[in-house]
Amino acid sequence: MQVLKTRKALKSTLSSFQKGYGLGLVPTMGALHQGHMALVRKALSENDKVLVTIFVNPTQFNNAEDLKKYPKTLKADIALLDQVSNDIVVFAPSIEEIYAKDVSSKTYHFDGLDKVMEGAFREDHFDGVGTIVETLLRLVGPDRAYFGEKDFQQLQIIKKLVEKHRIPVDIIGCPIVREANGLALSSRNERLSKNLRKEAGFIYKTLKAAKKRFGTESATYVKEWVRKQFEKREDLRLEYIEITDIETLTPTLRKLKNRKYRAFVAVYADDVRLIDNIALN
Ligand code: PAJ
Repeated sequence: MQVLKTRKALKSTLSSFQKGYGLGLVPTMGALHQGHMALVRKALSENDKVLVTIFVNPTQFNNAEDLKKYPKTLKADIALLDQVSNDIVVFAPSIEEIYAKDVSSKTYHFDGLDKVMEGAFREDHFDGVGTIVETLLRLVGPDRAYFGEKDFQQLQIIKKLVEKHRIPVDIIGCPIVREANGLALSSRNERLSKNLRKEAGFIYKTLKAAKKRFGTESATYVKEWVRKQFEKREDLRLEYIEITDIETLTPTLRKLKNRKYRAFVAVYADDVRLIDNIALN
């Protein structure tokens, strides 16, 4: 498997691809799990070549400790990808290769999509995500780029980014992959104790129950119910529960007939921050 470290090597490999090849891009921060691999497999099924980027992007972390603790497992990541296909190329640049000496974000306007939930609780997070994703899209020029619904707000923001900046690429969303107990796969799950990882299945269980309630109850009532469920737990601390329209991500006050809604949570299990979401209708 080709593992490229520099922009120059990337450029040279991309130019060696035959004209007319479909190229898929899967941006990741590594510590790959089956959630990432589902994006890779979907990309392989729709493209001739797939570029997987592995880069822990410093500008999207608002918490230095979180960045420091982020797992880095490049060797294992490459081995995992190697098993899947010969049509994968890995781009794993250094921070300097991406940012040179200026490790900072651009400022974006995402029409309010970045003002709620992850954007409200993680200052400047989406400017950091926008900066790295725009950089990668422009460097690689893929036909399609793949993102998970696990980070549904990120997915909507990236769709907005390519629309506003007229970047010619199809942004493709992929469903959330979960552990057997319902916990959404995440690189951060590795930091949970065995017991807490089991108990964290409560998050999805509660989201599923919220979905059921949303059929007959108001968003305000459902959110209050979710808060109450987490208040009963000593091991899981709810940071937020939000119910929004899936397009505008504005909090739902009144349900409208032709709109689609999702519920979103961020939960602390010990010092590990987990996010999840579910389609409500
Ligand atoms: P990372 O957290 O590594 O995730 C890379 C991609 O995998 C994202 O699109 C994410 O939504 C998807 N993903 C993660 N867990 C998943 C799961 N359980 N099911 C389905 N998809 C899942 O998201 C990022 O990195 C970064 O913000 C990035 C886009 C790479 C920019 O730095």
